[in-house]
Amino acid sequence: MDTHNVRKWFLCVYIPLLLLVLTGCSEASPPPSISTLQAQPPETTVTQAPAAAEAEPGEPHARKIVLGFSQLGSESDWRIANTRSIQEAAQVAGITLLFSNAEQSQEKQFEAIRSFVRQKVDVIAIAPVIQSGWEPILKEVKQAGIPVIIMDRSIDVKDTSLYVSFIGSDFYEEGVKAAKYLLDKMRETSGPIAIAELQGTVGSAPSVDRGKGFRETIKAREDLQIVYSAPADFTVEKGKAVMKTFLQDPGKRPQVLFAHNDDMALGAIEVIEEAGLSPGKDIIIISVDGTRKAFEKMVEGKINCVVECNPLLGPLLMQATKEIMEGRTLPKRIMSPESVYTQVMAAKEVENRKY
Ligand code: AHR
Repeated sequence: MDTHNVRKWFLCVYIPLLLLVLTGCSEASPPPSISTLQAQPPETTVTQAPAAAEAEPGEPHARKIVLGFSQLGSESDWRIANTRSIQEAAQVAGITLLFSNAEQSQEKQFEAIRSFVRQKVDVIAIAPVIQSGWEPILKEVKQAGIPVIIMDRSIDVKDTSLYVSFIGSDFYEEGVKAAKYLLDKMRETSGPIAIAELQGTVGSAPSVDRGKGFRETIKAREDLQIVYSAPADFTVEKGKAVMKTFLQDPGKRPQVLFAHNDDMALGAIEVIEEAGLSPGKDIIIISVDGTRKAFEKMVEGKINCVVECNPLLGPLLMQATKEIMEGRTLPKRIMSPESVYTQVMAAKEVENRKY
């Protein structure tokens, strides 16, 4: 796609869609709450593609577009909001969505993708649990002539023609933003300053890239040292369990926690308080995502900074799917602009959080 087309796509499609996402396009019929969705058992089966999903009379397509979506799991509030955004956007767009939840298993993602191929869907979207291992399955899909959109997490493939476009965040930049907040916060405090890091899923793009961006940025100050770092799978429970181990040695207590997502930060806050410490004061907490629960903790002074990662990618995904079906060329990378929030802005922003 040449620069002119990229600009055209950005102005005509991306900006209007982004406005829809930011202003909440589905206010008329409120979506089910996050807790309602959490209470439901994860959907593991692949919905059958309707034999002929006919379009309404007068609609331009002979039949509805069928999109197969392999979601990686339901580990966090971010993920639940992401699933909900995609399901709602598919309904609004009149796209038949075949949804499959892989519960953190790449193998299950492969099974779902093969099932989508057998059902001859029009487009396949994948939120990949980890970065590696995608080349063979994507070759199978390419052979079947089905276009692929990678969503949320990037993948490591030599042959980038195996997917049409990647829609998601810049995780490296999120790590950089987290580190910049820390550098600013500590500008008048001399070290050594001990940092603990709760990583996400091992080998996943957000964990790898957030960790890298953070490390490369704090290098600016030698007295900032990561003394603890371990994976906690992006979940509250693991966040709790791993943070507990970080607090075991009172002589080596971290002064800063960088959690790769809000759920792990929320788990960590619980054990920090159980240890008689004050989160946000005794331990500075920086997290990523921007869930309402994390904002509430910021308002209470228990989280210091949240780097936003936007899960509301459904409208962009549906638009990209339609454009592929219309034979248009998409940009290779479609990114969502994101902010950084601190306690100063939290009270004003908390009611606006959509997830
Ligand atoms: O890939 C996005 C990450 O995955 C989010 O930061 C995290 O909360 C989720 O589980």
